[in-house]
Amino acid sequence: MVRTDRHLTEDDLSKSLRRDVAEGLAAAPKTLPPKWFYDERGSGLFEEITRLPEYYPTRAERAILRERSGEIARASGADTLVELGAGSGEKTRLLLDALCAQGGPTGFVPVDVSGDFLEEAAARIAADHPGLRVHAVVADFERHLPLLPTGGRRMVAMLGSTIGNQTPEQRAAFLGDLRGTMEEGESLLLGADLVKDPARLVAAYDDAQGVTAEFNRNVLRVIDRELGADFDPGLFEHVAVWDPDREWIEMRLRARTAHRVRVEALDLEAAFAEGEEMRTEISAKFRKEGLKAELAEAGFTLERWWTDPDGDFSLLLARA
Ligand code: AVJ
Repeated sequence: MVRTDRHLTEDDLSKSLRRDVAEGLAAAPKTLPPKWFYDERGSGLFEEITRLPEYYPTRAERAILRERSGEIARASGADTLVELGAGSGEKTRLLLDALCAQGGPTGFVPVDVSGDFLEEAAARIAADHPGLRVHAVVADFERHLPLLPTGGRRMVAMLGSTIGNQTPEQRAAFLGDLRGTMEEGESLLLGADLVKDPARLVAAYDDAQGVTAEFNRNVLRVIDRELGADFDPGLFEHVAVWDPDREWIEMRLRARTAHRVRVEALDLEAAFAEGEEMRTEISAKFRKEGLKAELAEAGFTLERWWTDPDGDFSLLLARA
């Protein structure tokens, strides 16, 4: 049983890419949002990242879920899993199996901007879980939260430290908006990467094999293809830095030489100085007390907090 709602079209996506690139290249310093990394090649590169020895978050979160999915299902009291940034892998399955094992009718609402990816993932999950009500939603969870299906007792999951891509201001707005769409008693399952030794953090975002560097440069290929630009990815070097004050990793692309880039679809040219750095992603790292306060501010009570054995990554359950 799969139903799909579409709140985003290819045309919406193309418009927001244009706006993001126009604004980002005009800004000082230049910046590009991380959401455009994930075309087919970029999603494949991210998959590869999750298997790198340096990139611990995916393994750590999966370890917590293997251990705790039953406990999470019971503590949440949920019969419906809403997954923001839908996965199709083991983590989603562990949660769904635990919810289904509670006996009653169970729903799954995967939400993602990529319609193709979502349809495939939803069909696979439905095939493996007879009786599961799958209601896929093609939407941008930073814009379309009020359009998500209600009903049942929901647990909204945002895994993988996806929340780390937002600045504290964006997080406050997002968590507040999310709380506004939830009923009292519903729950939020949040995966959050934790502050740790900066050397390990930097290594996780600047791996020895250079996969993250290729992932970072991929955003330039996306813009070349979608907007008729002439970025030469080879002219940009991958940079990952830890900002100890804001406690986030920043990924940048640094121009190796001074050059100009033309973006046909926007009829604009951007000049890069030698060594100029353009920010492409922030990946915030968290502490328990800070997250607890941010959640409280948004109207959630932190109820459960789990970490992997090494204390690298946390999964938390908060109540609306
Ligand atoms: C998918 C946003 C959680 O920030 O760790 C991985 C993306 N960027 N390596 C992260 C990412 C570089 C990832 N998130």
